[in-house]
Amino acid sequence: MDLHIPPRPLRIGDQAPPFSARTTHGDITLDQFRGRWLLFFSHPADFTPVCTSEFIALAEAASMFEAANCALLGLSVDSLYSHVAWVRAIKALAGVEIPFPVVEDPSMAIGRAYGMIDDEATDSSAVRATYVIDPEGIIQATNWYPMQVGRCVDEMLRTVHALQRTMDGSVLTPACWRPGDDVLLPPSLPSDDSPDWFHRLRPDA
Ligand code: BEZ
Repeated sequence: MDLHIPPRPLRIGDQAPPFSARTTHGDITLDQFRGRWLLFFSHPADFTPVCTSEFIALAEAASMFEAANCALLGLSVDSLYSHVAWVRAIKALAGVEIPFPVVEDPSMAIGRAYGMIDDEATDSSAVRATYVIDPEGIIQATNWYPMQVGRCVDEMLRTVHALQRTMDGSVLTPACWRPGDDVLLPPSLPSDDSPDWFHRLRPDA
């Protein structure tokens, strides 16, 4: 696979680099997710405590991502054999089935294309990078967490919901917004008549 390494980190608005890969659910291509939202996340290593907790939390929230038409896709530089063994071990340990595919990336081709490999790191582990990719294959949100801090799955799902709600540009979502909460109207011109012109909170239609 010949993946282009971007000259700068991927940003919101960039096309997600296309790839094909082996996963715990068979071969996949990024194209397969067109028409759906995709949460694409990397983790430093299989069989590690924080990563295991994240996988269990993601598995437990999988039906809520499904209801939001958002697929889940994991990645690390570990081999497919390691991923399969780890997923089985999670099932044996916690009774949790991992319902999403996990990409193997031992060549780091995908991790490098997505900026999931920290150039400053002393080893080749992927960082905890997360990309929310829209149904057209455009990156709409991204974050990076260090290896010692697990991500909050609730916030991942909330971000997907907020991106979906604001996609048509008609409203904005305030801090900590959740579906059903009030939304904000886009900024308007200063006005003495409407003192709330810079913060127009309205019930969601
Ligand atoms: C963890 O997920 O717990 C972990 C990952 C990489 C290094 C150390 C810990």
